[in-house]
Amino acid sequence: MSEDGTDSGRRRFLLGATSVVGATGVAAAAVPFVGSWNPSAKARAAGAPVRVDVSRLEEGAILGPIPAWRGRPIFVVRRTPQALEALATLDDDLQDPDSNQPEQPEYAANAHRSRTPEVLVLIGLCPHLFCSPTPRLGIRPEPFDANWKGGFYCPCHGSKFDLAGRVYSGSPASRNMEVPPYYFETDNVIVIGEDEVGA
Ligand code: FES
Repeated sequence: MSEDGTDSGRRRFLLGATSVVGATGVAAAAVPFVGSWNPSAKARAAGAPVRVDVSRLEEGAILGPIPAWRGRPIFVVRRTPQALEALATLDDDLQDPDSNQPEQPEYAANAHRSRTPEVLVLIGLCPHLFCSPTPRLGIRPEPFDANWKGGFYCPCHGSKFDLAGRVYSGSPASRNMEVPPYYFETDNVIVIGEDEVGA
């Protein structure tokens, strides 16, 4: 754990197929009927919602990409208090700090872009040309930004996003990362892909 309370995104990031097993494993430990939780890859690609257990997602850690929804990876991050404080200091550096873009749920139109301040749910794709940005979650100098406050960096053409997926001014991407529809089924289970049961 670093001084700012966040761990390296590289260490904590669960990659690719491993993350699918990891997400399922976490859920399996907490909920015995996990086998019936998530639809097949084909159904997910068609838009079937995905359930994610975040009970063991620690502060400063990311779970993702988890089983793709509509063929797109999902990032789930539990932000630290320090990260949430940092979000409030970035407005002057961002293209759309209040996230007024229309193509998002209404609960994403705020500085933390989420239903609850701590847990961030994002489509893990860069809005420029749809590379997958790399999590750089710690508040520490990075090669691409000496004053980095945590977030995501797209290696393809250098777009930078904060820990709410808001794009920095001067980035090739012209809008914030997308927030999918989701809701909390319980305190620790997020349903990604719909706003509420039956919606
Ligand atoms: S695809 Fe991310 S900056 Fe171009």
